[in-house]
Amino acid sequence: MKWRIASNFALRFIAGETIDDAIDTVIRLNSSGYYVTVDFLGEQSISETDAQNSTLEIVHLLERIQSSQVEANVSIKLSQIGLMLGEEFCKHNLIKILNKANETNNFIRIDMEDSSVTDQTLRILLWARTIYVSVGIVIQSYLYRSEKDIEELMEKRVPIRMVKGAYKESYKISFKTKSDVDTNFVRLSQKIISSIKTIHDVGRDEGRFPPVLAIGTHDENLIKKLININNNSGLTKRCLEIQMLYGIRNDLQSHYLEEGYPIRIYLPYGTHWYPYFMRRLAERPANLWFFIKNLFR
Ligand code: FDA
Repeated sequence: MKWRIASNFALRFIAGETIDDAIDTVIRLNSSGYYVTVDFLGEQSISETDAQNSTLEIVHLLERIQSSQVEANVSIKLSQIGLMLGEEFCKHNLIKILNKANETNNFIRIDMEDSSVTDQTLRILLWARTIYVSVGIVIQSYLYRSEKDIEELMEKRVPIRMVKGAYKESYKISFKTKSDVDTNFVRLSQKIISSIKTIHDVGRDEGRFPPVLAIGTHDENLIKKLININNNSGLTKRCLEIQMLYGIRNDLQSHYLEEGYPIRIYLPYGTHWYPYFMRRLAERPANLWFFIKNLFR
């Protein structure tokens, strides 16, 4: 993380290292019409102090979002706030975040990590919603189990961000091919869309509060398919939030924004960018070549 060439390149995908960097970028994105979800980078905290510091930073971030009056909610990872150190410890930290979200009228999205923590993450999510309702989750279409998982979530009207999934998983529990993952992405999203019977089911759709379904993808084919399904179900554009990662497919981001869809940019910041950056490189070999070329230059 101290390697300047890599950190400069990582800046393509992150706002910077501080809360000020994040808020400045949110202001810029908001002024172009984008909603934002801010992510304080960090995962797999292995000391209580790290987990507590991350919790404090997220609480501070919620305060800054409120005081700067920007349209942004917050995405968190449970392993960052101590899941590896015990579920009770993690919940203890999560309560602090939920209390602050309640106080500042904001929404928390719990990101989904690798499959070793899916059960725990879903359990803690449902518990969190008994304390503060504006909490959502992420579902990965590469996992076989996701179809069953969304049933309970849909019943409880938990806002879902559908993604393909970013971790290396065994083929015993996940689809092998891109086309199967894509098909499942559409099928699961369609299920959620068809569960929307009244406008009340869409959930709140304002700057900070996403509707019940957000699709987190840069895959143009999938976005087009989901837009068609949304239209054919008689739903308005505001019912389908499209989320993309900061710095990826800016062309698509602005295209769908101009078309009138709510677009939310996932904006990471912080010094712990290494695992996030590696996942972005791994997703697309072209990024790696771009990085290597710049390295030599
Ligand atoms: P796919 O990988 O098929 O890419 C489609 C196209 O998008 C590519 O052809 C390319 O043009 C572009 N693209 C994709 N990745 C790129 C990259 N790294 N660099 C440059 N171009 C790229 N995962 C997870 O497991 N848990 C989570 O909580 C989240 N959260 C999340 C939030 C949001 C807002 C998004 C957009 C994604 C996530 N993800 C995630 C990551 C997700 O699972 C997935 O790994 C990435 O989105 C890449 O997959 P695509 O759907 O974009 O399709």
